[in-house]
Amino acid sequence: MGISRKISKAMEASSWIRKMFEEGAQLKKEKGAENVYDFTLGNPITEPPKAFEDKLKALLAADTTPGTHAYMPNSGLVGVREKIAAYLKAQTGLPYAFNHITMTVGAAGGLNVTLKALLDPGDEVLALSPFFVEYGVYADNHGGILKPVPTTEAFLPDLEKLAAAITPATKALIINSPNNPTGVVYPKEVLTALGDLLVKASQKVGHAIYLISDEPYRKIAFDKTEVPYPSLFYKDTLLITSHSKDLSLPGERIGYIAIHPESTDAQALATATNFTNRILGYVNAPALMQRVVADLQEEPADVAGYQEKRDLFYPALTAFGYEIVKPKGAFYLFPKAPGGDDVAFVNHLKKYDILAVPGTGFGTPGYFRLAYCVRNSIIEKSLDGFKKAIEDLA
Ligand SMILES: Cc1ncc(COP(=O)(O)O)c(C=O)c1O
Repeated sequence: MGISRKISKAMEASSWIRKMFEEGAQLKKEKGAENVYDFTLGNPITEPPKAFEDKLKALLAADTTPGTHAYMPNSGLVGVREKIAAYLKAQTGLPYAFNHITMTVGAAGGLNVTLKALLDPGDEVLALSPFFVEYGVYADNHGGILKPVPTTEAFLPDLEKLAAAITPATKALIINSPNNPTGVVYPKEVLTALGDLLVKASQKVGHAIYLISDEPYRKIAFDKTEVPYPSLFYKDTLLITSHSKDLSLPGERIGYIAIHPESTDAQALATATNFTNRILGYVNAPALMQRVVADLQEEPADVAGYQEKRDLFYPALTAFGYEIVKPKGAFYLFPKAPGGDDVAFVNHLKKYDILAVPGTGFGTPGYFRLAYCVRNSIIEKSLDGFKKAIEDLA
């Protein structure tokens, strides 16, 4: 076969969501889409806000300046980066300026650009399990090795386990709050302790351990839960985000990296991410989308819509006996798999036309993920199946 052995292996290992998606497509063909309860994909249900459409139309109507569609600095348009820096400065009080911002092809692009800039072959990247499944392949893309570190029962960082996992080869730690797949939000106390741990560990290993804070769900937080900025608790932080989830623009591939202004080598990081954006072949983030989102930084996400879905789903499932850490943000539930075997239980759910993803796909067997960014009626109609599925195992 012409495909590289490494890629074939990686495809096999990271295929859970794809596998479930394909099985879902087949089931929908057989039963009709409205009769299949598909909770596999984190594709936002809400349409982009009206402000997005207005801004897009205004830009298209007004844009006659020569060079509008030309190549640009690889880190993105200076005016756009100035606006994002001003927004982050107002949010955090940190002195962000345009040169700390690199516009990227979504958060995925931002993660790859960052890891490419940081990693030497064999460097270790820590991630707290369960984690977004692509982190492993992204680290490997750039010669790194992903080392999962288990979290507590509440899916918060386990500081002892984290400290024990750090070695001189540790280059970075990736965190993600609000979290995919658990919906957990890291509170201030946790981030304070995490920051202290990283300061001490960096001193011990003799180099900065970078905190890569993957924050695409920042604006989707429920019950007025505060989502503190990890950058406020540790200076060697790279904030990575996108507008895939908050503005429902995953197909437009727009996001950014914000380098902490007081980070070790902040300027070198800015120069390096400018370069890695280019050499990874992104060259720069999509020009039109950069200009659109520059003025939408204050735009809220549809928090009420997602909270309504959580409040439909979480209490019903817990009443049936599912054990779930109550999510405070994002749009996922990560229940324990009744019976303990996540793959077996996800297969069992198919009997009731319910599609979910086993926790194994997130580095955490024994659980399963439900992406509830679906119509309320899908949640409501699925409940009977969830009830029967757990009763079957009683
Ligand atoms: C935790 C997390 N990080 C990164 C991404 C990638 O986001 P984007 O589509 O902006 O590249 C996702 C997408 O689902 C995600 O859940």
